Amino acid sequence: MTDAPLHAAPDSPYRRLPKVELHCHVEGTARPSTVAELAAKHGIPLGVETPEDLYSYANLPDFLAAFGTVCSAFVDLDDFHRMAYEATEDAALAGIRYREMFISPGFHLDRGVRFDTVWDGIVAGLREAEEDHGVRTRLILDVDKPKGLGPALAILEVARNLDRDLLLGIGGDSNEIGVDHEQFAPLVREAHNLGFKTCFHCGEEGPAENIATMVAAGVDRIDHGTRLLDLPELVARVVDEQIPLTSCPTSNVELEVAPTLEAHPFAAQLEAGALVTLNSDDPAFFRFDLADEFERVATANGFDFETMVAIRDNAIEAAWLDETDKAALRAELSV
Ligand code: ADE
Ligand code: ZN
Repeated sequence: MTDAPLHAAPDSPYRRLPKVELHCHVEGTARPSTVAELAAKHGIPLGVETPEDLYSYANLPDFLAAFGTVCSAFVDLDDFHRMAYEATEDAALAGIRYREMFISPGFHLDRGVRFDTVWDGIVAGLREAEEDHGVRTRLILDVDKPKGLGPALAILEVARNLDRDLLLGIGGDSNEIGVDHEQFAPLVREAHNLGFKTCFHCGEEGPAENIATMVAAGVDRIDHGTRLLDLPELVARVVDEQIPLTSCPTSNVELEVAPTLEAHPFAAQLEAGALVTLNSDDPAFFRFDLADEFERVATANGFDFETMVAIRDNAIEAAWLDETDKAALRAELSV
């Protein structure tokens, strides 16, 4: 078994380009070899011959089932420490220098894992990896949308006491079809009252109306937003207000949200004037990394290096850093 990612671009200038990522799930970075090792350590059946067999899906629900199985191998504090450390080690190899990364606690609490185990392990892993690899990471706690508002507010209650230097915001992920997004308006309001930024996965597998709902609720960023162009009046607002989109084209193709990278609306959204950023979502699950994403999107759209640097700069603009920090990051990453 190998856990080497299938890098399309080992020597690409896009690997050397220092990058910022705003849409990546820490659980989605779990290396297959680590999953296999930890499943064996805890005697947890994965239900497949090799962990790679988990990593193939026809749609988002199918993918989320595999995501849950991968999560099940992570049980104790050392496991979460390792998850975060390896996520950061792989980020460094992709040329990422600053990342705002999701944790999806619902997938762990459901199995009886304590929140503190997840948080303390991940924070320790990130701190150690930042020292070793120079990648700065900040965190976003994602609520599990299908569970509804009650459990989401319970996550917010936990979040209010966590280290604000590390935890920047509250997001929402998991399945989209059949989920009433309007119910989350009070979550967004309450999160803002507590000083958190907010973002939500929407317009991924579901319709653009879900993006409109979350924009009306006041979210600070839209995660995916693949269907945005279906609603012209919404495009006007998103462009006017420069509400960032964290686009993940390869993920969308892998989960059959878009037919091909060439047909993905990423370029058309940019052309419309939206503040679009480029992200990997779940790099281990799609066997690639952000450097590959840059290379593939450049090739699919005929974008030159300068255009890709401008796309990288969109992520600095959309990051949840203050203006002084953003200016420092711009200077640090200038090419
Ligand atoms: N959790 C991890 N990846 C996700 C995605 N692409 N959509 C929704 N939830 C997710
Ligand atoms: Zn995502």
